[in-house]
Amino acid sequence: MKVLVVGGAGYIGSHTVYELIKDNQEVIILDNLSSGYKELVHPKAKFYLGDIKVKSDVENVFKQEKIDVVMHFAAKLIVPESVKEPLAYYYNNVEGVRVLLEVMNEHNVKKFVFSSTAAVYGEASGVCQEDMITKPINPYGETKLACERMISWVANAHDFKFVIFRYFNVAGADESLKIGLMKDQLTHLIPLAIQGIIGIRDHLTIYGNDYPTKDGTCVRDYIHVSDLASAHVLGAHYLFEGGKSETINLGSSQGFTVLEVAQAVNEIAPLKVVIGPRRDGDPAELIASNEKAQRILKWVPKYELKDIVLSDYNYRKKISNR
Ligand SMILES: NC(=O)c1ccc[n+]([C@@H]2O[C@H](COP(=O)([O-])OP(=O)(O)OC[C@H]3O[C@@H](n4cnc5c(N)ncnc54)[C@H](O)[C@@H]3O)[C@@H](O)[C@H]2O)c1
Repeated sequence: MKVLVVGGAGYIGSHTVYELIKDNQEVIILDNLSSGYKELVHPKAKFYLGDIKVKSDVENVFKQEKIDVVMHFAAKLIVPESVKEPLAYYYNNVEGVRVLLEVMNEHNVKKFVFSSTAAVYGEASGVCQEDMITKPINPYGETKLACERMISWVANAHDFKFVIFRYFNVAGADESLKIGLMKDQLTHLIPLAIQGIIGIRDHLTIYGNDYPTKDGTCVRDYIHVSDLASAHVLGAHYLFEGGKSETINLGSSQGFTVLEVAQAVNEIAPLKVVIGPRRDGDPAELIASNEKAQRILKWVPKYELKDIVLSDYNYRKKISNR
């Protein structure tokens, strides 16, 4: 397969490129490097610098490459920023996908793997199944849901086939430690907690310890970025082999409290924890069921919480020494 990975210089995109290359696939990357890094690009992937909102940038790739499957990771994804700048989010996330789909259609490329998010479920609580009501509570989630709907209408009109993946709480780094989450402004629990044990911050704040859970802190599920990346590879094979369109959660189906995650980090080195007030919009328990991913793609995550934490630690230590 020749796979175009848009956003392949970002965190999840670069890990997916690594897994595709391990799987002996040919990889083309299109990325504007707005939040990605050239050093995350696999040396065997062919890189095009360009923006998916700019039709000529996308056409340039499709004119030169005969693409079988397109994977999309090219989004803006910081929730508070999306609340402050909704138009920038609609422009990049929705217009970007519209232009990409238009060019794909014009070049008769009709297989699409799309990174969505469990943020489309909004304030749902408990174990999320794919057929649950979608009700995002911020512009980021809204833009992703708008893309999901656009993809589905385009599939209906133009015989596209898609796999939409919904996930959250991704962490860890490729075993080689050549790539990982490089961003300066981290928002996710595991990397923030790791920063608390490698001297970058002096404590981890936990928002609320009075939720109706076993230790009062919120329950979430966590997934290793390489497991997520392997699911995308399986999704591409599934479409290439004629699979029908599906929307699929990617998660561990297993919940851990924030305190349990902090304890897993504390096993590597002492972590100071401070309890802060609850944040708006944080449900007590949110877990992505992976039953459908197992059934349709035969995907089973390999890594457990302790592996995810250790891998993130090793990567963060490596980049803090640079
Ligand atoms: N990181 C998470 O925890 C998480 C959770 C759920 C869903 N997702 C989804 O996964 C995808 C990838 O997330 P990530 O964490 O790897 O983000 P990231 O910021 O590391 O990667 C995004 C990549 O896309 C590129 N990009 C953005 N807009 C572009 C444009 N208009 N044209 C070309 N390239 C563009 C960026 O330069 C970057 O390389 C996103 O679609 C996001 O919504 C991420």
